[in-house]
Amino acid sequence: MNRIHRLPTELANQIAAGEVVERPASVVKELVENAVDAGATRIAILVEFGGKKLISVEDDGMGMSPDDARLAVERHATSKIRDAGDLAAILTLGFRGEALPSIASVSRFRLRTRERGSLSGQEIRIEAGVTVSDREVGAPEGTLIEVAELFYNLPARRKFLKADTAETAQVSRLVTQLALGYPGVGFTLKSRDRLLIEAPPAGSSEERFYQIYGDRPDLVAVTKQAAGIGVTGYVAALAEQGPVRGPQHVFVNRRLVKDRTIAHAIKQAYSVATIKERSPEVHLFLEVPPDRIDVNVHPTKAEVRFLDQGLVHEVLRRALIDSLGQGSAPELVLRPGMAAPGGEATHAALPWTFEAPTGAGIGQGSFTPRPDVEGALAHAIDQGIPAQAPDPRMGITAGHETVATLIKPMAPLGQFRNTFIIAVDEDGVAIIDQHVAHERILFEQIAERLTTGRVEVQALLTPVVLELTSGEHQTLLSHTAALQRLGFEFEDFGGNSLRVGAVPALLDWNKCESVLRAVATDLDDLSPGAGVDVALRQMAATMACHAAVKAHDQLTREKMQYLLDELRRTSHSSVCPHGRPVVLRLTRREIERNFERV
Ligand SMILES: Nc1ncnc2c1ncn2[C@@H]1O[C@H](COP(=O)(O)OP(=O)(O)OP(=O)(O)O)[C@@H](O)[C@H]1O
Ligand SMILES: [Mg+2]
Repeated sequence: MNRIHRLPTELANQIAAGEVVERPASVVKELVENAVDAGATRIAILVEFGGKKLISVEDDGMGMSPDDARLAVERHATSKIRDAGDLAAILTLGFRGEALPSIASVSRFRLRTRERGSLSGQEIRIEAGVTVSDREVGAPEGTLIEVAELFYNLPARRKFLKADTAETAQVSRLVTQLALGYPGVGFTLKSRDRLLIEAPPAGSSEERFYQIYGDRPDLVAVTKQAAGIGVTGYVAALAEQGPVRGPQHVFVNRRLVKDRTIAHAIKQAYSVATIKERSPEVHLFLEVPPDRIDVNVHPTKAEVRFLDQGLVHEVLRRALIDSLGQGSAPELVLRPGMAAPGGEATHAALPWTFEAPTGAGIGQGSFTPRPDVEGALAHAIDQGIPAQAPDPRMGITAGHETVATLIKPMAPLGQFRNTFIIAVDEDGVAIIDQHVAHERILFEQIAERLTTGRVEVQALLTPVVLELTSGEHQTLLSHTAALQRLGFEFEDFGGNSLRVGAVPALLDWNKCESVLRAVATDLDDLSPGAGVDVALRQMAATMACHAAVKAHDQLTREKMQYLLDELRRTSHSSVCPHGRPVVLRLTRREIERNFERV
């Protein structure tokens, strides 16, 4: 008996839509990309109720003839490729002929288009994949697509959509990204009658960047051309000690992508130049010969595959290092030794290395002991402490989650490169990353306060008005309650601005802008199902990072002592905001063994 049958077209389209259309922002992405491919110079986007009620995208591109319009909403119908040869070097954003039929199968869809030079236009209406009207109409040149009641015929999918403000924030983040990618195209985004983004056609990427982000002295420009690969853009400067995380926008041949090779190159470039592990803000544009990448590897075209992966990695890494290196001396990289299997091997001889990445000698880093340092060090080493079994809790930190505990009170001796505190107790010497230590202490303090209510606030004498991007603005407004618990008081101040009346007491008020921006990025990155606790924890970590002393800050002895004492108080807790090592421990036994005193 035969059991196999063909699915009806509408059902097949709905299934395909499952891959292409996830939420309003993905509809906007497809429609805007179509408009760009059609040569539009202006694209007007409108969403209502987060795009759940209505998404409309209007362009002044080449439009379609009536026959083309009918074909456009059928599956596997495209004007962009013809044969397998075209697939090997794609120059347009679209190529599958999937987007419109998918979207039309899960909404009430209206397409109105008029081909350039034609006298009249055509309008096609489709409901849940079925054409309900197809007629000649008057229309301006270009194309208008309206998508109403997304997923109205798939209630299960509709349930997965977030609150209106969150969906609007996603859309506006996406439109910001698309606007960065296509500086020559003018963009407007409205949410009902509110104008969220207005970026008129710009003459260059620089101009577009300025339209969106304004003056950003904390970023440096990147430009490099090598091996047929071009890299341009703006990235967080190293001197910028602030945000550890920022938005990362990467375009390959003007296509917004997420790519592991690229992410890795960014990480490497930053990690050789700083001790801080960061996911820095980057806006990068890569140009690669179209026949050297495969764009047909991901259902929503969000990934690409490079034929010369190693080459792309290397060109990008070098481009970044060149730009980042300007004006800043190379830092030493501190590499903790091997992780301690079962807490035993933590006492290996010299289990860490100082590495000078750019060929500088080991002696480059200077350790200037304070006058009393040598005495104290000698004292600590000379104290006759009986040899004892290794205590796993006092090992050297390594890997991700390990944190050496400080059990006994420690005395600070001084700082190494104004970045690490060197301290001793009777069992050895400890090197403490001052920023990470303080970050951890603050994180614990915030977490503690949150369990009992809210974080203490300081009211600002004059409220601060922040100009944000519309994505940041929406995101922060939709988390007002959580941010209030963390000590931020603010209100919508029209346009994309917020008026901040109070900030957490532990935060310098002039950092409130960078913290709130970083928090917005964090919130956007959270997975849809993440609860309030996760969001609060993430925000607390970001705040702690911003409020903490930085690498290169000179500390008074009192401040060092305070950090050591507080660290001791919190060191038994396993809570560590970013899971980075805090303390590097050199035990008395190790010191003695290295001087052959055992
Ligand atoms: N805004 C527009 N202006 C002019 N033509 C358009 C527009 N939108 C779509 N089209 C035409 O309709 C066709 C189908 O669009 P659709 O988005 O479904 O597929 P695609 O863009 O070819 O591929 P993909 O599924 O990868 O997006 C396009 O190839 C294009 O010819
Ligand atoms: Mg398309």
